[in-house]
Amino acid sequence: MLPLEIKKGIYWVGGIDWHLRNFHGYITQRGTTYNAYLIVDEKITLVDTVKHYMFDEMLERISKVVDPSKIDYIVSNHVEMDHSGSLPKMLAIAKGATVITSPNGEKGLKRHFKKDWKFKVVNTGDSLNIGKRNISFVLAQMVHWPDSMVSYIPEDKLLLSNDGFGQHIASSERFDDELGLDIITEEAAKYYANIVLPYGMQVGKLLEAASKLDIDMIAPSHGLVWRKNLGHIIKLYKKWSGNACDNKAVVIYDTMWGTTEKMAFVVKKVFEEKGIPCQMESLQKKHISDIMTHILSAKYISVGSPTLNNGMLPTVAAFLTYMKGLAPKNRVGIAFGSYGWGGQAVGEIEKVMEGCKFQVPQKGLKIQYVPDEKDLAEFKKKIETVI
Ligand code: FEO
Repeated sequence: MLPLEIKKGIYWVGGIDWHLRNFHGYITQRGTTYNAYLIVDEKITLVDTVKHYMFDEMLERISKVVDPSKIDYIVSNHVEMDHSGSLPKMLAIAKGATVITSPNGEKGLKRHFKKDWKFKVVNTGDSLNIGKRNISFVLAQMVHWPDSMVSYIPEDKLLLSNDGFGQHIASSERFDDELGLDIITEEAAKYYANIVLPYGMQVGKLLEAASKLDIDMIAPSHGLVWRKNLGHIIKLYKKWSGNACDNKAVVIYDTMWGTTEKMAFVVKKVFEEKGIPCQMESLQKKHISDIMTHILSAKYISVGSPTLNNGMLPTVAAFLTYMKGLAPKNRVGIAFGSYGWGGQAVGEIEKVMEGCKFQVPQKGLKIQYVPDEKDLAEFKKKIETVI
């Protein structure tokens, strides 16, 4: 378990969770890392920790650089347990250490751990001198928790961004120029879509604050450290935080006896004929957290469900609940579905879309029982008026 020096005197000492496949409901097909950083200066400082079960891995890495009992400060940028879960064990060793955290961080850590540790609360603009370096803090409330903050070291042009700019990737590589940029970008997009998307306004404020800093490395708390492609990821964060969409479509559906699936492919055909790229997503085949990656930049969100027991299928309801929570904005919604008698599913989907403030230009797109060529042609015509 070797540490990695990412800047002179600053070491990555995190944990690699190779086999994690589910991060509170988000499918992490590539595993993840919990990145903790050790700064060796006159005051030894650890920035964030790791999930509780990865403590030994982090400790081994720290021990290769310094005596862990000599740590003076532990910066807790975020209360969530993937970053603060090892605080109790770390503080049992570094008994004299002070926990540096935001006002909400102190409240959250106290509520969670019920411990009266030595805290120093910091706010935006506050700075902590640790010797040759200063660590300054920027509160990043709701990116993505109320306690979230980032730490910046001007002497090293280093932003320790916690969850922001993160990706769930377990790898031996630590830097963005050591692994394919397509993979890192895909995972950064998935991370944004599933974790950060509701907080575009707050991300915009953080980007504004970061634009005033001289940064040549962004070290997030998950995945690869950005040292080469900073412009690339910042540009994407600006796009995503503004809910800027591409002229693209996603068709998400489930089906009972095949009619709603037939309708889904008619919707796809119309998009294709209009020259709009369209991604097909069957809820029987794809996890909702993967579907969200496509929703992130698609203007058209089309959702289909047959009616079951006077409502939509549970898979579709689960997807819509998840999507609504992540609050994509400025989208066009198209609901469709088949039915035998009641046909309530389409109205329910439309209601959720309206709750998301999507434009829903055409309503009641339904087909009863099994469609023939004429039914499908009529349905196609209606879709053509929407796109
Ligand atoms: Fe990586 Fe919000 O925790």
